[in-house]
Amino acid sequence: MNILVLGSGGREHAIALKISQSPKTSKLFVAPGNAGTAAIATNIPVGVNDFDAIKEVVLRESIDLVVVGPEDPLVNGVHDFFLNDAELKPIPVIGPQKAAAALEGSKEFAKEFMMRHNIPTAAYESFTGESLEKGYAFLESLKPPYVLKADGLAAGKGVLILQDLEEAKTELKSMLLDSKFGSASATVVIEEFLDGIELSCFVLTDGSNYKILPTAKDYKRIGEGDTGLNTGGMGAISPVPFADSDFMDMVESRIVKPTVEGLKKDNLPYVGFVFIGLIKVDGEPKVIEYNVRMGDPETEVVIPRLKSDLVEVLVAMANGTLDQIDLQIDERAATTVMAVSGGYPEAYEKEKEIIGADTIEDSIVFHAGTKLQDGKVVTNGGRVIAITSFGKDFKEALQKSYQSMEKLHFDGMYYRKDLGFDL
Ligand code: AMP
Ligand code: GLY
Repeated sequence: MNILVLGSGGREHAIALKISQSPKTSKLFVAPGNAGTAAIATNIPVGVNDFDAIKEVVLRESIDLVVVGPEDPLVNGVHDFFLNDAELKPIPVIGPQKAAAALEGSKEFAKEFMMRHNIPTAAYESFTGESLEKGYAFLESLKPPYVLKADGLAAGKGVLILQDLEEAKTELKSMLLDSKFGSASATVVIEEFLDGIELSCFVLTDGSNYKILPTAKDYKRIGEGDTGLNTGGMGAISPVPFADSDFMDMVESRIVKPTVEGLKKDNLPYVGFVFIGLIKVDGEPKVIEYNVRMGDPETEVVIPRLKSDLVEVLVAMANGTLDQIDLQIDERAATTVMAVSGGYPEAYEKEKEIIGADTIEDSIVFHAGTKLQDGKVVTNGGRVIAITSFGKDFKEALQKSYQSMEKLHFDGMYYRKDLGFDL
């Protein structure tokens, strides 16, 4: 089969590597890809939201299957674009249609979905500019901290957690009336604060059947001890030690099953990955958010643990035969540590030469923000390279990732040395 992966991060490198290892893969393309995907696939310089250019590539390269990495094209309707085009219609797309992608594209939609299907989540109300005064009253009825969420996509920055009531009111006003997050904050969801420990659960579905992938936990803050600004993710581990089988049974019966059944009841076709952001509160799981794609950097620990042929799994998802797949998972733990550009997640420089990646032997090197320039691999983003290792437990795996990290260099490189500190 000829397969096209859309995206350019560590997630897409990890997915592409697994696809490249399948005997079912003939040709593999990544658009736009990075320096890492260039070594295992053909990169195509086309953006993930340029649907007309994607169509041209799909027809020119006789693509048989498209795997969508990031949320943007899904929320923008790339799957619907395929279904509405006579030539593209027969080609399966892994990733939900626009209607279901609203689970990530609109926090209000996601909350209403959870309420409708009795899926445990934080209590909430949503507000617009017209109901600002009601929003203030709702804030007054809550205890701090106050959780304010822009309804729409805001590149991971649309959630504010505030201790002070007056500050919460000011921010609410700025989100609703001054477009703090652009049109994304024209509606704001205010939520009850949940106190617990977070983890990520990944589900594959064909719309009726589902399979649960290994759990993972990512580290979002830039600083050690989970301090400082939020990032796209500084590393991850899988499995999550506190997600034991009793806990995961609750996750499956209270959350995963009602989610897949809810999608069906609501007539929301869904072929793809469901990323359920969970929080464990007093031993029980609640949903923090849905995403309609894999997580990054969680993919860099989850997908390497998959022993089954990923292409077979993806084809079963597209064909509605996921029930016939027996997922084989590597028992070992996996960890990934992300090397980032100096200054990230604030301003940082690009095009720093990356050296040493080819000397790393005990780990898998996934490229996130890299590109080829004059035959050299240079930095091209905030998150640059994720180094994934296996071990009998996460500590052993982490030690390997850190040893491998010592062989990697670029100007300004930074990584967290305390992953797993909270476990
Ligand atoms: P989200 O974009 O919805 O995942 O929110 C971003 C982050 O904010 C989450 O990963 C949590 O750490 C935090 N968060 C979101 N909602 C809540 C909540 N209701 N209670 C506590 N923390 C939350
Ligand atoms: N690692 C969190 C995310 O991908 O959204």
